[in-house]
Amino acid sequence: MTVDLRTSYLGLELRSPLVASASPLTGELDSLRRLEAAGAAAVVLPSLFEEQLTHDQLELDRLLETTSDHTGEALSYFPDLQDYNTGPWTYLDHIEQAKRTLSVPVIASLNGITPGGWVRHAKRMRDAGADAIELNLYSVATDPQVGAAELEARYLDLVAQVREAVSLPLAVKLSPFFTALANFAVRVEAAGADGLVLFNRFYQPDLDLDLLDVVPRLVLSSSEDLRLPLRWIAILFGRVGISLAATSGVHTGLDAAKVLLAGANVAMMTSALLRNGPEHLRTVEDELRAVMAERDYDSVAQLRGSMSRAAMPDPAGFERANYMRTLMSWSSRAEVSPGQAAGAEPAPPAGQAARQEQDLRP
Ligand SMILES: Cc1cc2nc3c(=O)[nH]c(=O)nc-3n(C[C@H](O)[C@H](O)[C@H](O)COP(=O)(O)O)c2cc1C
Repeated sequence: MTVDLRTSYLGLELRSPLVASASPLTGELDSLRRLEAAGAAAVVLPSLFEEQLTHDQLELDRLLETTSDHTGEALSYFPDLQDYNTGPWTYLDHIEQAKRTLSVPVIASLNGITPGGWVRHAKRMRDAGADAIELNLYSVATDPQVGAAELEARYLDLVAQVREAVSLPLAVKLSPFFTALANFAVRVEAAGADGLVLFNRFYQPDLDLDLLDVVPRLVLSSSEDLRLPLRWIAILFGRVGISLAATSGVHTGLDAAKVLLAGANVAMMTSALLRNGPEHLRTVEDELRAVMAERDYDSVAQLRGSMSRAAMPDPAGFERANYMRTLMSWSSRAEVSPGQAAGAEPAPPAGQAARQEQDLRP
């Protein structure tokens, strides 16, 4: 049985739903080539961060100020300026090179929290050839003076400003930490986004007691992390009219099939590719084809959203009632074996795993 993997995302027609999300792998031409060769249907470049931009903008202003007082010398400063290729300028080069190298769509990524002149860079990204822009709203709301409503308004303003700056397809990557996510999602759509990318992973720092310092800890995801985007995509499918991308926890073809069933247009991958190399994408595609063929799905179009909240006989399964059922299911599970650490979760009975597999039937 041949399986049609084609999908559309942000209005872009893709050969499959497997996309490489922003990571160091998409920051290098060599790994970009390998990702495309392994079947990546699109790539998202690493984010250009607001802090980078602010720093470089300040540096640029400083250079321009220095030169403006010394017109005679000004020209001799300009070679420096041309050589200036850190931050945004290198980023634009990278877009151009990626576009020259690849035939799949190249999505540039902007990370910002405050509206500002840097929105101009969205235009520069377009001019450099980006096929779409992903706006990465990654920030940690630590300021006690800034409430959720204010922060959300800032985000929406930012989306609207980028929307105004460019007519390119625009995706918005969110964190899961919104109190009223469904409401925020529809407002992001109203602000002009063409898609939502759910969710960014927050990298939580740790304490090093020897160094008495805060140290970054980057923990790659596992398939266990899939359930957060899975649930929210299932809830949002049909409630927003824009594309949905799943990111966090897609490691296998089965993971990809699940997010498509929930309603995603694409399944994005980073951790699995960092761990196993870009070629792992081919394995995931083969697995996805096999999962679909085994269950008689012949296209992504047929699969998509067929297990979303709206499509399920018991939509509450994705909502609060599920909480109670989950807690109650604990008592019916296998006893903790004496060797097992207190508090550790016992393995699900074999039948339960089999049942999860069966749940994918159309
Ligand atoms: C080393 C590393 C760098 C990343 N850089 C970015 C980035 O620049 N912009 C972004 O939006 N996400 C970035 N991410 C997040 C990934 O794109 C992805 O959303 C996240 O890792 C969850 O997906 P996964 O479970 O497939 O890893 C990065 C992740 C890792 C591990």
